[in-house]
Amino acid sequence: MRGGKLIAKYRVTRENAHVMANNRDLAIVILAAGKGTRLRSSLAKVLHAAGGRPLVEHVVRACQPLRAKKIVVVVGHQAEKVQAIVEPFDAGTVLQQPQNGTGHALLVARRAIGNAKHVLVLPGDAPLIRTGTLKSLIEKHRKSNAAATILTAVLAEPSGYGRILRKGGDTVAAIIEESQLTDEQKELNEINSSMYCFTAAKLWPAMAEVKPNNRHRELYLTDAIGVMTGKGEMVLAEVTPDAREVLGCNTRADLAGVDHTFRDWKREALMRDGVTLQLPETVLIDPDVAVGEDTVIEPCVQLLGSTKVGARCVVKTGSVIADSVLDDDVTVEPHCVISASRVDSNVIMGPFARLRPHSHVKKGAKIGNFVELKKSVVGEGSKVPHLSYVGDAKIGRHTNIGAGTITCNYDGFHKYPTTIGNKVFIGSDSALVAPVKIGDGAYVGAGSTITESVPADALGIARGRQVNKPGWASKKRRELAAAEKPAKKKKSKRR
Ligand code: UD1
Ligand code: MG
Repeated sequence: MRGGKLIAKYRVTRENAHVMANNRDLAIVILAAGKGTRLRSSLAKVLHAAGGRPLVEHVVRACQPLRAKKIVVVVGHQAEKVQAIVEPFDAGTVLQQPQNGTGHALLVARRAIGNAKHVLVLPGDAPLIRTGTLKSLIEKHRKSNAAATILTAVLAEPSGYGRILRKGGDTVAAIIEESQLTDEQKELNEINSSMYCFTAAKLWPAMAEVKPNNRHRELYLTDAIGVMTGKGEMVLAEVTPDAREVLGCNTRADLAGVDHTFRDWKREALMRDGVTLQLPETVLIDPDVAVGEDTVIEPCVQLLGSTKVGARCVVKTGSVIADSVLDDDVTVEPHCVISASRVDSNVIMGPFARLRPHSHVKKGAKIGNFVELKKSVVGEGSKVPHLSYVGDAKIGRHTNIGAGTITCNYDGFHKYPTTIGNKVFIGSDSALVAPVKIGDGAYVGAGSTITESVPADALGIARGRQVNKPGWASKKRRELAAAEKPAKKKKSKRR
């Protein structure tokens, strides 16, 4: 087959070898080579994200528990990127170049499918499909003597999809693509999901007869259904109970709709697990995020990536937490941004605090408003309550960092560390010029620019000495008043 180069081998790992018994005679083919012209994007369609993952990753994840003999992903546009996403799920890839339609894509995969008895075909752009739905499609197909079983859905708004032309009962006569519908057929609202279970022995002879009889001169997989029924083969339809599962993503609007459903499902799952979501429709949570019982998530919060939030936490409005771990009983006040960091139990943070990557705030510490931490550790019970920048710093236990303290960690070329011990008191508006160490129990006078280390229990003070000039202010006022008097008289004369 032209373009059917095998570009990856299938991996059968020790862990999955024993579970493959279930569907040993089944090969799964995911069609993911298309560009997605209707998205108007330089990114291939299946690489677009919905529900926090690329479309094709959702499909592969849904397939993995089926324990098929193999999963073959047909790739084309941005093949390497698609391959990198699916490979960790034990899926192999075949290259379809050029992309001459869904039927052509399946033919390209034929050699990789090998002698599997059944072939489950899925589009890479319908990511909401669930494993259980695929299982019942396969079971229905196995129980019948059908050449193909099609997963269908009844949609109130079916435009854009191929339509199912029924024969009677469960059986299908043909799939008619949108562009080929007669006026009468436009009324049909049962759609083709592009998810099919085929009997291989019936599939390949039918595919051989499919011709590129359409405007785009492509081979349509949908035409194989008409060929099969023409040969007297039986084709069945299984209507999916939740039509949302088969929605495809051809346009940006489709992507937004599908993303919406994913987010709904994730929020529903968390609420079932005992998490309170206020105005849940405003909260965005990625699929791998975990949240403990009795945690309250306020409106307009985003929990992203691999974030884990413990039990009894409160994450207040407008906060964005990515790839971070929060232990139990943490309070995140409004509008905090936390990235790739760790927050231990009983910490209070914000409002308007920012934790940049590799920060660690230990148990019971307090990070206040307009505080930025970068690659820093704040020890147990320590406080950085207001308007500070703490970068490349280690702060010990029960230390207080005064308002406006800055660690000057960068000289324009290199970054340097600041070490602050236990029970230290840094006066407000201090600049600690790194590298510098402040010993346990030391004090730094407010407004100091500290360029040398301060020993334990010492006071470091580095600022101009204050001078008070008695009577200076009242003398100044008298001088100013005298200078203004003549000008005022002139004004009153003019009136
Ligand atoms: C297809 C079906 C339509 C069905 C709809 C469901 C055909 C002809 N039409 O239409 O009946 O209602 O899906 O979502 O099959 N692809 C390739 N190689 C190609 C062309 C496509 O791998 O040469 C892949 C695409 O990347 C995509 C999938 O196949 O993941 C479906 O292709 P797409 O162009 O989205 O087909 P639809 O127009 O949605
Ligand atoms: Mg599509």
